[in-house]
Amino acid sequence: MIDDLDRIMAVMASSFDPAWGEAWNRRQVEDALAFGNCHYFLISVEGKAVVEPEAAAGFSLSRTGYEEEELLLLAVAPEYRRLGLGRSILDALKLAAAGRGAKRLLLEMRKGNPAQSLYSGFGFYQIGERKEYYRTPAGNRIDALTFACDIV
Ligand SMILES: CC(C)(COP(=O)(O)OP(=O)(O)OC[C@H]1O[C@@H](n2cnc3c(N)ncnc32)[C@H](O)[C@@H]1OP(=O)(O)O)[C@@H](O)C(=O)NCCC(=O)NCCS
Repeated sequence: MIDDLDRIMAVMASSFDPAWGEAWNRRQVEDALAFGNCHYFLISVEGKAVVEPEAAAGFSLSRTGYEEEELLLLAVAPEYRRLGLGRSILDALKLAAAGRGAKRLLLEMRKGNPAQSLYSGFGFYQIGERKEYYRTPAGNRIDALTFACDIV
């Protein structure tokens, strides 16, 4: 039987370019979910919450903090991109985070990630920059940008 961790890892495997070293391994996801403050959302191809036994087209992983919810990972499998699923995942995250008491969403991404267009269009605005914060598997340093999105 496919469980939700399998669903997350299936999308993870196809979604992240290994050149950036951004994908998490199964153990990292398992460890995050073992803490009560981490949450995931799985979206189906039709743009709805996944129902057993469907596969997932995308997912988010987030962490709840005091009045804030940090988006740790967001991915949509390549064959389902530019169909609005990423935006739908953010909609679902915002709603769920509000229900958990969050006043804003936070995220951090590598400078130059095209995902920035999605985030800006959704209402995220830049709040910080960390110079040479990430190191790629090839050893290159890349800046990190941090963004917030108010939940009103
Ligand atoms: C980023 C990602 C989640 C977007 O998912 P998606 O389902 O394709 O996004 P959507 O279809 O909801 O996009 C909504 C809007 O965001 C913008 N957008 C999304 N992806 C974009 C891209 N690659 N380049 C430019 N704009 C983009 C567009 O304005 C798009 O609207 P449009 O298609 O009508 O022009 C997906 O590309 C992905 O999984 N990337 C690899 C993993 C990653 O980098 N995750 C983010 C950092 S953790």
